[in-house]
Amino acid sequence: MIAISVNGERREFDAPLNCADLIARLALAGKRVAIERNGEIVPRSRFADEALLDGEHVLVTSGPTREPIDPVRYVSNRSSGKMGHAVAIAALRRGARVTLVAGPTVLPPPPGAVYVPVQTAEEMREAVLQHLDAATIVIKAAAVADYRVKRPSATKIKSNKDEELTLTFTPNPDILKEVAARKGTRFVVGFAAETDEVRTRAAAKLRAKGVDLLVLNDVSQRGIGFDADDNQVVLLDRWGGSIDLPTMKKIDVAGAILDRVLELRAASRPSSRDRASR
Ligand code: PMT
Repeated sequence: MIAISVNGERREFDAPLNCADLIARLALAGKRVAIERNGEIVPRSRFADEALLDGEHVLVTSGPTREPIDPVRYVSNRSSGKMGHAVAIAALRRGARVTLVAGPTVLPPPPGAVYVPVQTAEEMREAVLQHLDAATIVIKAAAVADYRVKRPSATKIKSNKDEELTLTFTPNPDILKEVAARKGTRFVVGFAAETDEVRTRAAAKLRAKGVDLLVLNDVSQRGIGFDADDNQVVLLDRWGGSIDLPTMKKIDVAGAILDRVLELRAASRPSSRDRASR
C-alpha cells in the first residue's frame, strides 16, 4: 500500500501505483509531499530522483575504443568507463530506459541497461546509430580514438630490432558530430577531455560538434578525469551558460549532468501556454 499526502491531505492507494512522476512534479512545484510505502515514510528525494527521467530513453557511450595494429596489439587510451557507466547508473536510478554502448572495460554492465559492448570507433559508431532512433537523450562520455591504423596487419608484426616501424593513421568518424547533425528533438551531450587552454578549446568544441551541452574535464589534473573515482567538470551549454561544479564522485557528477539536461531542455522548449496561444 502506498499513501501520498499533499499539503497535509492523505490518500491511500492499494495498487502498486507508478506515482513517481506525479510526486516529482508536486515536489518540484513546491508542494509538501509525504510518501508512505507499507507504513514507512520514504525519503522524498528518492522518489524525485526515481521520477525525473520517467519515459526517457538515454543512450550513453562509455570507456575507450581499441584500434588494432595487428591481431595482438592495439592503440587505445586511459579511459576506464567509470564516468560513462556512472551516467548510465544515474539515468537508471531516475527511471530512464538506458542503452549503454561501451568500449573495453572491466566494469560490470549496470543492471537494467541494454548493454552493447564494442571494441573500435567504427563499431561504436554503428551501435550508436543503430540505437539512436529510440533515444531522447544522448550522452557521449566515451573516449573515442580520433585515429585508427590505416592498414592493420592480418598477422602479428614480427620484431626486427634493426628497423624502425612506421604506422600510418587515418581519422576515425566523429560519432558525436554525426549524432548532433541528425539529432532532431533529442538532447545531445558531449564531453571534452582537455589538457591545455581548456575553456577556449571546449568552447570551440561545443560549436564545432553542434551539441546542446558539453561537459569539460581538465584531464591534466591529478585525481580527476581518466580512471579516477572523482571528476571536476564545467557544464557549457549552447545558450551561453557555464557552470563550474566542484570535485565530486562520478555518480554525483552524472546526476548533476542529468539535472542540467532537464533544466536546459525545459527552458528551451516552448511552454504549453505559449503553444496554446499560437
Ligand atoms: O572513463 P573514465 O576513466 O571514467 O574517464 C572519463 C573521461 C575522461 C574519458 C570522460 O570524462 C571524458 O572526458 N570523455 C570524453 C573523452 C574524449 O574523447 O574527449 P574528446 O575531447 O577527445 O572528444 C569530444 C567528444 O567527442 C566526446 O564526447 C567523444 O565521445 C566524442 N568523439 C570524439 C572522437 C570521435 N571520433 N568521435 C566522438 O564521438
